[in-house]
Amino acid sequence: METKLVIGGVEVENPVFFAPLAGVSIAAVRRLFRRLGAALTHTEMISSAGLLYAGTKTWRMTECTDGERPLVLQLFTGDADSLCRSAERCLQSRSYAAFSINMACPMPKVHKKGAGSRLLQDPDVAFAMVRELKKFGLPVWPKIRKIVPDGREYRLDTLQFAEGLLAAGADNVTIHGRTPQQRYEGKADKSEVVRAARRFEGRITASGDVYAPRDVAFYLDNGCAAVLCARGAIADPFMVVQSLRVLGYNTRMSDGEPSLEERAEILIGFADDLYRLHGERAALVLLRRFLAGFFRGKAGTAEFKRTLASAKDWDSAYRILCDWRSYFERGFM
Ligand SMILES: Cc1cc2nc3c(=O)[nH]c(=O)nc-3n(C[C@H](O)[C@H](O)[C@H](O)COP(=O)(O)O)c2cc1C
Repeated sequence: METKLVIGGVEVENPVFFAPLAGVSIAAVRRLFRRLGAALTHTEMISSAGLLYAGTKTWRMTECTDGERPLVLQLFTGDADSLCRSAERCLQSRSYAAFSINMACPMPKVHKKGAGSRLLQDPDVAFAMVRELKKFGLPVWPKIRKIVPDGREYRLDTLQFAEGLLAAGADNVTIHGRTPQQRYEGKADKSEVVRAARRFEGRITASGDVYAPRDVAFYLDNGCAAVLCARGAIADPFMVVQSLRVLGYNTRMSDGEPSLEERAEILIGFADDLYRLHGERAALVLLRRFLAGFFRGKAGTAEFKRTLASAKDWDSAYRILCDWRSYFERGFM
């Protein structure tokens, strides 16, 4: 299947996207998931205040390297003015496929600023943010969570909130099927996401409990326009490839289960990107975080991971990485 789709005003190859993940969705990781076939990636959530008042560290988070477009820039703040000023600053020297507004983060330090899922209690502010951001001419994709109205803090339910965002001009709404109170625990309510997708056909992206191709297929079969791969893709990056196959898309990898050679080749390319784009410290952290997923279920992975964890610097970590065969040959070669 090679036809292009247009989702939320963005032309994409398929409906499988890589999620915004704080501390994870950095350029090297986004390039990895584009290589594995995800049609689109997001930046991690980036503070508007950080962009307006802080230094180069926040600014660097807005960079987009070759090989990772289309990229959606996700901003978080509690008001339309700082949102628009930070967006404008980014657009002065960078380009993106769309803006995402984070209305989903449940963490107290984000709530304190009136941002993230705190906005679910302030529909007027949230809708104004969409209306104002639309003025830059890029598609606007707010990301929200399931809402259970309580007549006090939360006045609108998920569908009413999504409807308000769409009426304000949102081109797509991503819905994570957990409530803010659940944070990242418990099950995502997939039926709530699907209810919204059926009501707002072609305009809802699904998020929550996407761990296997069947989860991706479930959301798409039930009317969602696209699906975000998040923790499931960290646990098993090749889940993206397998999902695309199940959906009938061509992938850039050979058929069947990826071989150890293919896995190692992609891992080493990823490691090169990590070090080149983000430096030693970030590269070591992310490499350790992703390593097990690359060889999920293969005998030898635990020892490989343990040895890599003991590496003191990048040179020794990289040497261990390039020696991957010696960890797996007993079980699999
Ligand atoms: C470590 C971590 C960081 C996250 N960072 C962001 C973020 O920056 N922006 C955002 O919109 N969602 C963020 N999320 C939420 C994910 O994008 C996704 O909606 C959520 O994990 C549900 O999907 P899952 O159950 O398939 O993991 C984060 C989730 C986790 C676990």
